[in-house]
Amino acid sequence: MVAYLECGPLDKVDLCQCETATKRLFCARAVNSKALNMEFVRQVSRMLHEEHMAALLLLERLESALHRTGRSELPDMADNDFLRLMGDLKAGIEAEISNHFAFEEKELFPCLRKAGDGGMVDLLCEEHKAILPLGHRLAELAHSVRSGSLTIDDWGTFHRLGGEFVERLRSHIDKEEIGLISSVEGTIDEEEDMHLAEQYAYSR
Ligand SMILES: [Fe+2]
Ligand SMILES: [Fe+2]
Repeated sequence: MVAYLECGPLDKVDLCQCETATKRLFCARAVNSKALNMEFVRQVSRMLHEEHMAALLLLERLESALHRTGRSELPDMADNDFLRLMGDLKAGIEAEISNHFAFEEKELFPCLRKAGDGGMVDLLCEEHKAILPLGHRLAELAHSVRSGSLTIDDWGTFHRLGGEFVERLRSHIDKEEIGLISSVEGTIDEEEDMHLAEQYAYSR
């Protein structure tokens, strides 16, 4: 059984994991998203959830950086935390988030479609199509920041796209944490779960 409990808004993402013999309990707290306590039966749910929480952490860091520096002033290029964020953003989008979306689309969504969840899958695929190109443009601009070639116009673009990326991806994750994960828990059987978890592990 999957239990969702609202804990209210919190000022920091905090992920803790407790294992029982057959189930794992996660307590996830996220800024501006529903905080959920979940018990997972399926490995693939846990893997998706962990990556969603890592992505929310990245979004939280990006949002803070955008709040610290307005779009009409260049960021402090001597700020190591900011430069680290640019590197993490580029790697996170080009590797983790791209792989995560590809796994969902190629491996997981076809199983859910077969189980009758085609409407939800179509909506999530549409969101992927909007989020991924935005992310790739953001990753290119993050690279310009690190290489020292960022102009004030580039930063203005980064600021605008970054805000949109935070909003879209956070909303997408909220939907998946509630709808997708409960669908996985309810429709994927143990054998399918093992196969999907293996596929997912290979794709990382
Ligand atoms: Fe996802
Ligand atoms: Fe997704």
